[in-house]
Amino acid sequence: MPFGYSGFLKKKRNCMKEIVLSGIRPTGNLHLGNYFGAVRNFVKMQEENQCFFFIADYHSLTTHPTPSDLHGNVKQVLVEYLAAGLDPEKATLYIQSDVPEIAELYLILNMNAYMGELERVTTFKEKARKQPENVNAGLLTYPSLMAADILIHKAHKVPVGKDQEQHLEMTRTFARRFNRMYKEDFFPIPQAYNFGAELVKIPGLDGSGKMGKSEGEGNAIFLADDPKSIRKKVMRAVTDAGPEKPNQQKPEMIENLFSLLKVVSSSEVLTHFDEQYNNCSIRYGDLKKQLAEDMIVFTEPIRQRIIELSADESYISKVARIGAEKAHESAKKTIKEVREIIGFRSF
Ligand code: TYM
Repeated sequence: MPFGYSGFLKKKRNCMKEIVLSGIRPTGNLHLGNYFGAVRNFVKMQEENQCFFFIADYHSLTTHPTPSDLHGNVKQVLVEYLAAGLDPEKATLYIQSDVPEIAELYLILNMNAYMGELERVTTFKEKARKQPENVNAGLLTYPSLMAADILIHKAHKVPVGKDQEQHLEMTRTFARRFNRMYKEDFFPIPQAYNFGAELVKIPGLDGSGKMGKSEGEGNAIFLADDPKSIRKKVMRAVTDAGPEKPNQQKPEMIENLFSLLKVVSSSEVLTHFDEQYNNCSIRYGDLKKQLAEDMIVFTEPIRQRIIELSADESYISKVARIGAEKAHESAKKTIKEVREIIGFRSF
């Protein structure tokens, strides 16, 4: 035999599909940042791995405690997942609140999550600054809920955008801590994933920062936007007076437009405008027109599918029901083990 029993087990384990998990909060329509930072990878990864993709509706209450139509927002993300190419036959698509085991694991992880480390998380500090009237415990313990989402299925890889990097670091801290306290190697240590490349940050159209669902009018291009509104938003994007000398470094607002070209346009188009920028002949109006048209070519088929799927209530409910059952099965197994190793037993 070329290798012993432990080698055999190792090989067997390697042959098993890796577990992939990720989620999106239902706080608005999906935009190009969500797509290129996350959903594009979900679609690729569903082919080769055991995938769980969910809608983080508990998480959305940390910033939107009384949503006017939570169910409608959740449905919209589910529709957009499907329209972007997620396949319920290949991946488990579910809604976080349909799997109560996640809340139980969150509670348990919180017992070993410390105030100091939670307070240091950048997103907590940012959100506490943005909503000083509502610095709730859910906001502080957001990383433990996210860790529960990931660990409940013992995921290995988590495809996310750059803004989630620190949350993943926290998940690793919680997983290692749990393993050390209760059982060695119980949880795999999950990694943020982008096929070996840097995690992505897609900029918005308002000159600085990232594309976001609630960054203000005109910042984000949504997958559900019609061509007219895409043209309008892109033509209004912030620019400057243009380069004054050859090969000048691009200011952030211009760099952002080039970053958007990079994801939706061909390399020829990118090179063309880059050369024009470098020899100071660029006309931003032309660049924006091209950018808008390339965005439309990309989003239009997805938008059409969004319209079709939105009308198919019974299909959407079926996807959610089947997803809930599958996610529940997997979560139930983990929580049973967690209860046993900590020492919770029924009488
Ligand atoms: P959320 O809803 O803010 O964003 C969903 C996904 O989209 C990515 N993203 C971006 N990527 C690149 N450029 C952008 N401008 C951009 N904007 C958003 C995010 O990085 C993310 O991958 N905490 C998560 C939801 C969550 C989760 C989880 C994710 C809850 N539990 C467990 C993974 C695993 C969030 O708020 O994502």
